[in-house]
Amino acid sequence: MSARLQQELLEHLGRFERSQEHLLRHWGQLTEPQRERLARQVLELQPPLLMQLFRGEDDAPDWTQLANLAEPPSAVRLAGTSATARQEARQRGEQLLRDGRLGMVLVAGGQGTRLGFPYPKGMFPIGPVSGRSLFQVLIEHLRAVSRRYDTRVPLYVMTSFATHQETVAFLEKHDRFGLAADDLIVFCQGTMPALDAATGDLLLAEPDSLALSPDGHGGMLPAFVGAGGLRHAQDRGIQQLFYGQIDNPLLQVCDPELIGFHDLANSEMTTQVVRKREPMERVGNVVSIGGSVRIIEYSDLPEAAARRTDEAGELLLWAGNIAVHVFSRAFLERVAADPQSLPFHRARKKVPHLDAQGRPVDPTQPNGLKFERFIFDLLPQARNALVVEADASSAFAPVKNADSEPCDSPRTAKEAMLRLHARWLVEADIDVPPDLAVEISPFLALNAAELRQRLRIGGNLNGPTYLEP
Ligand code: UTP
Repeated sequence: MSARLQQELLEHLGRFERSQEHLLRHWGQLTEPQRERLARQVLELQPPLLMQLFRGEDDAPDWTQLANLAEPPSAVRLAGTSATARQEARQRGEQLLRDGRLGMVLVAGGQGTRLGFPYPKGMFPIGPVSGRSLFQVLIEHLRAVSRRYDTRVPLYVMTSFATHQETVAFLEKHDRFGLAADDLIVFCQGTMPALDAATGDLLLAEPDSLALSPDGHGGMLPAFVGAGGLRHAQDRGIQQLFYGQIDNPLLQVCDPELIGFHDLANSEMTTQVVRKREPMERVGNVVSIGGSVRIIEYSDLPEAAARRTDEAGELLLWAGNIAVHVFSRAFLERVAADPQSLPFHRARKKVPHLDAQGRPVDPTQPNGLKFERFIFDLLPQARNALVVEADASSAFAPVKNADSEPCDSPRTAKEAMLRLHARWLVEADIDVPPDLAVEISPFLALNAAELRQRLRIGGNLNGPTYLEP
């Protein structure tokens, strides 16, 4: 059996242009389950795709040229959109919610390497007073929205091999933070192997495992379809899917206004953006090129293009990607049917691996190539793609880095949550001592107006407070 399996693996590896037989170097010492694990990974390899990616045939376009053609996207801006238009959008979004037409996709498959937290990022305690985890913050927000509109919004959580088991166990341990069992589907994204950047050799992470990583947030599309998520949404009569990332505790979960603008514009994909604070800010740039909306990553945008300004002196390429989208279900069905709809991007990364003697190597310089798909590559394929501006202080607090870094860390995200809730208290005319840490439960209020209606406390808060109903 084992000899036949080994032969089958050698044949599969023989489909690569250069020998990859080193992957079976430890075969003789592996136990039967270890051999099965390695065999499964090897048989899933797609030699033509990997060889093409290594040769760079899918290589990046000429960003300088594209950046020169880039214009600001036409967008629903914060300034300049009438209260009537907003109200109309909000009502449409609320109606879709009430009619049960919304689903939510939350991507949580990343490895969170920069944060350095030893569990899936969703388990990180981000509540500045409550200590609630990112999962709890976002799921409770979703439940509060569902409750407000007397509806049910199924949640599709994407994990990866790096986060799946712990995420499932965590969500079950906490009774899905109150979500009904049939309103939660957890599905696992695919993986891609890493290659040695110099030679194109596949790398072994362990004697019985390749060096693998999740295939990017764009892996959502095939994984969602493969796991039956799209079919589930169809069966539930879902028309629109709100998409967000686990690492933003200020995510405006299923925001009716955003959903309403998307639906009124008959858009297949809408993306929420924030105004960049500085030209070289580390967010993707949402731009329009030749009439189609696309994203140029900060690392690909030449500084001269980033610094261009308009007549008013404002940044011309002002729209920063915060990875919040709304998809029509029909659009996802259409693009999912085309395997080419999301290309892989190559990135040079440090990839720990075993050397020829089986000794672990922890590189200090990027040595490998990793391949990822990005969900925003769907934007140019969407009919009537729409861009909607949000106020960063109420919609975006990324948790990317460890607290030792100056930005996008748990510390800065907690501060942003407290600042937002302090602002709600001021807007709701609720008197609390300045600098008092107050965190507000979404079940109490989702905004300042709700807080004003619901909260009947006086000014006698005197320590960090978690305000809940
Ligand atoms: P990032 O690209 O910021 O990666 O993911 P990350 O894993 O959180 O952190 P680093 O880069 O390793 O430090 C943005 C969002 O996309 C999800 C992440 O979980 C996060 O919510 N993501 C990313 C996936 O779900 N799968 C992936 O393969 C990559």
